[in-house]
Amino acid sequence: MMNKKQPIGIFDSGFGGLTVFKAVRKLMPGENIIYFGDTARVPYGTKSADSVIGFSKQISEYLMSKKIKMLVVACNTSSALALDKLRRSVKAPVIGVIHPSVNAVCADEKNKKILILATSSTVKSRAYSKQLNKKNKNLLVYEKACPLFVPIIEEGCSGKNFAKQIVKEYLLPLKKKKFDAMILGCTHYPILKKVIKEVMGKRVTVINSSAQAALKVYEKLFDLNLLNKSKRGKDSFIVSDDPKKFTALAGQLLDIEIKKLEIKRF
Ligand code: DGL
Repeated sequence: MMNKKQPIGIFDSGFGGLTVFKAVRKLMPGENIIYFGDTARVPYGTKSADSVIGFSKQISEYLMSKKIKMLVVACNTSSALALDKLRRSVKAPVIGVIHPSVNAVCADEKNKKILILATSSTVKSRAYSKQLNKKNKNLLVYEKACPLFVPIIEEGCSGKNFAKQIVKEYLLPLKKKKFDAMILGCTHYPILKKVIKEVMGKRVTVINSSAQAALKVYEKLFDLNLLNKSKRGKDSFIVSDDPKKFTALAGQLLDIEIKKLEIKRF
């Protein structure tokens, strides 16, 4: 039996999943949260399915050993490639980041032409197209891999001029296709949201997979009567390498203050 005080475990390949952490923390201030960033092996988005599945299983087992009451896969690449497998092996509810955004898109009938921005591995899996078209076969879905976004963000360069140049390189050719909605299908991408919006224009609704995932976490915990209503929950951060960079980026880009950080090497 799970209890309300047990922590929620959240993981990503690195720093991007902190966008999910931040959204969960804002919505559920009383929750105890353990965040794991696999900074030794980031990026996942250019790796094979077998590698991503292996890393995701290892991290999930580690987080389960910390007695989590829910696992949040705060990585679209892991959600695309490993979610089904994790659901079979993890003995706790598992929330991914793809389903919640798919539901958000389908909830608005005006959305007919959808653009997905994601890592190469997520795009290759076609997880978004499959799930969107399963819900509504008339949706036109176009998936675009943006492999340079994660390194730009992980190197702390999202505010530099060349970052905007790269965003333009990927997205300007797509602007004329007149999409109704766009999913930021990588938890790192909300860091570039402002620039992405500037390039794509106001017409496109931007759906942020991190914010949608946080709503799903809330709903699921509520349904299971596992919401922790304490005043202020505890944050724990664990990375597999380079704690200094992780702490600096969390502060600089997301205004998350990390006082204590553990290292877990696999
Ligand atoms: N943040 C991850 C995602 O949502 C992975 C980025 C990466 O490691 O390539 O896909």
